[in-house]
Amino acid sequence: MTEEIAEMSPLAAVTSGEPSPGRKVFIKTYGCQMNVYDSSRMSDALAADGYVPTDVMDEADLVLLNTCHIREKASEKVYSALGRLRQMKRQRTSEGREFMIGVAGCVAQAEGEEISRREPSVDVVIGPQTYHRLPDALKRARKGERVVDTDYAVEDKFEHLPSISAPRGKARAVTAFLTVQEGCDKFCTFCVVPYTRGSEVSRPVAQIVAEAERLAGEGVRELTLLGQNVNAWTSAGPKGERWGLGDLLYRLAEIPGIARLRYTTSHPRDMDDRLIEAHRDLRMLMPYLHLPVQSGSDRVLKAMNRRHNAHEYIALIDRIRAARPDIALSGDFIVGFPGETEADFEATLELVRRVGYAQAYSFKYSSRPGTPGADLPDHVDEEVKSERLARLQELLLMQQNRFAASCVGKTIDLLLEKPGRNPGQLIGRSPWLQSVNVDAKTSQIGDIINVRITATGPNSLFAEVA
Ligand code: 5AD
Ligand code: SF4
Repeated sequence: MTEEIAEMSPLAAVTSGEPSPGRKVFIKTYGCQMNVYDSSRMSDALAADGYVPTDVMDEADLVLLNTCHIREKASEKVYSALGRLRQMKRQRTSEGREFMIGVAGCVAQAEGEEISRREPSVDVVIGPQTYHRLPDALKRARKGERVVDTDYAVEDKFEHLPSISAPRGKARAVTAFLTVQEGCDKFCTFCVVPYTRGSEVSRPVAQIVAEAERLAGEGVRELTLLGQNVNAWTSAGPKGERWGLGDLLYRLAEIPGIARLRYTTSHPRDMDDRLIEAHRDLRMLMPYLHLPVQSGSDRVLKAMNRRHNAHEYIALIDRIRAARPDIALSGDFIVGFPGETEADFEATLELVRRVGYAQAYSFKYSSRPGTPGADLPDHVDEEVKSERLARLQELLLMQQNRFAASCVGKTIDLLLEKPGRNPGQLIGRSPWLQSVNVDAKTSQIGDIINVRITATGPNSLFAEVA
């Protein structure tokens, strides 16, 4: 999943149990879209307990960090944020006011007790599988207990959280995430996800359809199905037959109001025939696919335990493109995996040239304690990693710019999403997940209109109504 930082302030209000009325929560989200989704679920669970979300940290009675553990830098950010929160807590406590600190997400899951040991000002440490127990954990913490709850209670999580409410922020949300799958059984040797998120668990069809219908009822037009390994999703269909993600997409395509579908993140090994057929048959399945490959060297792919080689990946891309010729591809890459030689790295550049990406994320390998990669010999020097990353990013950026430029002059469907920078302008989403600026009225948010792309900007495109 792509790494970005978001701050959530959903406005849900369901009441139950012994509430904490009037208290305010500030949630800071690190990492992937799964965390963004989880933050909104936590916010909903807290709203049920009387908490009101705030965008202003100074107003909060509870600050919750929803953390990411994927690379070392991501985890470090958490401890520096906790240092600042400790100061705030000292100040607040001296004023006789409540100020609680919670750590959620993957660092919580991976480090558990260690967090409260390193940073005793933390009141609650809660893992991704137990968010529905957050209100209870806070009650215990208020009585002086230092709570660490990182059990694997996967079967409960989806059921116990209150139903999500769509509008997140000021404008009516027309796009939404929907988690259909969690965890990963792939065990790539660089990755902590199988340890922090546990093994693959799929949500049942009925739960997914019900949540999709509710979102559609609230005005959502575009759904992005989420999972660490989303295309490994599998569950029983209505007649008890085995369904894969392709089958689920055909089913969701029938929901009135939903006009667009996407999913992320996928593993090449789980792109089955049915899913490729869905790309061929379903116009509403957007022509954009994030399909990480990590490396173009068969030797490195083997050491990474990716279970596919470069040739198989390229053959797969060719089949997907044959099914949906206008599909844009996105990927993840790691440079400097232990043992990676210059020749291995050049094989990655070669694969990138062969595939042609519209968008990509690339990282220097970061050794994660507890993963098999950490114990491999021949770790690559930081300088070599930096130099390779720069070369790879130059190539990827060139491809990204080329893709954006190729859109100019095209007439496309644009989903109008939110107000733009200037009055009278809206920002919409292209089928290829680009932000597009166009002159339109606020009342048109949620509409899909025909526009012609006129120019490219640094991070977005410009269009006029066709
Ligand atoms: N070091 C560098 N990048 C990593 N990723 C996952 N683990 C590591 C690591 N240890 C990258 C992969 C993955 C993306 C989410 O993060 O490219 O696809
Ligand atoms: Fe990590 Fe590999 Fe699983 Fe992706 S497929 S979450 S990289 S172990």
